Amino acid sequence: MLGQDFTAWASPRHEIVPLDLPEVDITDADAVGRYAASAKPEAVIHAAAFTAVDECERRPEVAFAINAEGTRNVARATRLAGIPMLYISTDYIFDGEKPAPYVETDSPNPMGVYGRSKLEGERHVRELLEAYWIVRTSWLFGPYGKNFVGTILERARAGATLRVVNDQLGSPTYTVHLAAALEQILARGEYGVYHATNQGSCSWFEFAQAIVREAGMDESMVAPIPTSASGRLAPRPRNSRLANTHLEQQGLGLLPPWQEGLRCYLLRERSG
Ligand SMILES: NC(=O)c1ccc[n+]([C@@H]2O[C@H](COP(=O)([O-])OP(=O)(O)OC[C@H]3O[C@@H](n4cnc5c(N)ncnc54)[C@H](OP(=O)(O)O)[C@@H]3O)[C@@H](O)[C@H]2O)c1
Repeated sequence: MLGQDFTAWASPRHEIVPLDLPEVDITDADAVGRYAASAKPEAVIHAAAFTAVDECERRPEVAFAINAEGTRNVARATRLAGIPMLYISTDYIFDGEKPAPYVETDSPNPMGVYGRSKLEGERHVRELLEAYWIVRTSWLFGPYGKNFVGTILERARAGATLRVVNDQLGSPTYTVHLAAALEQILARGEYGVYHATNQGSCSWFEFAQAIVREAGMDESMVAPIPTSASGRLAPRPRNSRLANTHLEQQGLGLLPPWQEGLRCYLLRERSG
């Protein structure tokens, strides 16, 4: 999702070489090295990951092979080729116990396999590279690929009652807004760890209500449930809010409120 959205966003101004399976598998160190050496880009944006959070609990060896070892392969290849790397990471590296939004310097403590494997990816980036950005984001939705907004719309249009958790808070983030922020971070060139999300926060239940309402349907079809009733395998942080402190300090401008991201998504969906 994010890779395609970034490509669509930035292509008019930059030459982008999008890579995905099956052209390059990041668990194949030689293949990654060959691409980095031959393409010689100005920077590598690494957004490939095993992102199915519950599936990561079932197949931890795959999660670590892709999210941790795959990231190490990308970091090694970019170091050898002398190219800076931007690694996309996640709110799930935090345990959600902090009562306020997490800042970039807060200590990570992931609750599940997905978060642990992504944090291991971060560790490889920090240890192997000097020229890197780690950009943590959350609750992505965008025009390409399966996402929460698309799923809620599909189920609501089918007339289903939607039971959605009301005790996990975070910031839904529109991939096109995030793509614009990534472009700015790259252009500024100031390395480090960034949190980049749409502004404001809500629970998944409130997000689902807003999706249904904005799409012109009756929001009473969305019912709140606690996480304990969700039947999901992976533990998830109850507080996923990320303070975008570094973006603000760099004067790069913050992303718009998540409600605006949702409106942009729906507008685009309507216009086909
Ligand atoms: N989605 C979210 O809510 C969210 C929140 C915070 C952070 N993030 C992070 O944001 C980044 C982008 O997420 P996304 O939602 O755009 O994920 P996505 O839609 O699942 O895209 C991930 C891409 O990585 C590819 N991939 C998987 N294994 C690979 C491998 N071994 N080699 C090369 N490519 C491989 C996938 O290919 P296939 O489809 O063929 O498997 C897919 O195209 C990830 O780093 C993720 O951890 C996501």
